[in-house]
Amino acid sequence: MLPLEADAVVTDPPYGMDWNTDHSRFTQGQNGTGGKHTRVDKRIEGDAEDFDPTHLLKYERVIIWGMQHFPNRLQRGSVLVWVKKYPDAYGTFLSDADLAWMKGGCGVYVSKVMHPAKHQSEKCHPTQKPVPLMAWCIEKTKLPKGSTILVPYMGSGTTGLAAIRLGMNFIGIERDAAHYKTSCDRIAHELDGALL
Ligand SMILES: C[S@@+](CC[C@H](N)C(=O)[O-])C[C@H]1O[C@@H](n2cnc3c(N)ncnc32)[C@H](O)[C@@H]1O
Repeated sequence: MLPLEADAVVTDPPYGMDWNTDHSRFTQGQNGTGGKHTRVDKRIEGDAEDFDPTHLLKYERVIIWGMQHFPNRLQRGSVLVWVKKYPDAYGTFLSDADLAWMKGGCGVYVSKVMHPAKHQSEKCHPTQKPVPLMAWCIEKTKLPKGSTILVPYMGSGTTGLAAIRLGMNFIGIERDAAHYKTSCDRIAHELDGALL
C-alpha cells in the first residue's frame, strides 16, 4: 500500500523473531494472571522473516520499534528506550527493555511508561504496546495537532488510539484480518468516547 502521504511514520513492525505468542507457556503468562483469557497462539504475520525497514526510511520523520533486530539496515539516528520492567525484575526473564530507532539526531531517550501488567485483561494483541508509550513516540516527532501519522503494521490499533488522543490524523495498515478488526473496534470505541 505504500507510499502514502504522511508527516511521520510511527510503527511497531514484526521483529523477525518468529515469536511464539502462546504466553500461557510461562508461569507468569497472561493466562496465569487471572486476567481475561486472551491467549493468542497464532504467530505474528511476517515475523518468520527478517524485517527490512528500507521502504519506510524515505519519510522525513520515522520511528520504528525493534531496531535491535535489524541494526544493519538503519542509518545513524536517535534511540528511544522503553524500560518495560520495574528495577527489581531487571535480568530476570526475557528483555528488560525495547528499542526504537528515530530518524535524525543521535540522542537516546527513555520512556517512563511501564508495562501495564495490571491491565492484562485489556490485552488484545500478543505484542501490544501501551497507548501512553505510542503517544510519547508521536510527541517525539514534534508535529502539531492535525498532522498525519502513518502506522504500517498497526496490530491492535494502539498507535491509532494514541494519535486520536493527541489530535492527530492517522492511517493504519494491518494485514491480519482479526487484528484489523480489533483495531477498528478499539478506534471506534475511542472515537465514541471522544465525541461524548
Ligand atoms: C508487532 S505487531 C504490532 C502490535 C501493535 N504495536 C499493538 O500495540 O497492537 C506487528 C503487526 O504487523 C502486522 N503485519 C505483518 N506484516 C504486515 C504487512 N506486510 N502489512 C501490514 N501489516 C503487517 C502483523 O499482523 C502484526 O499485527
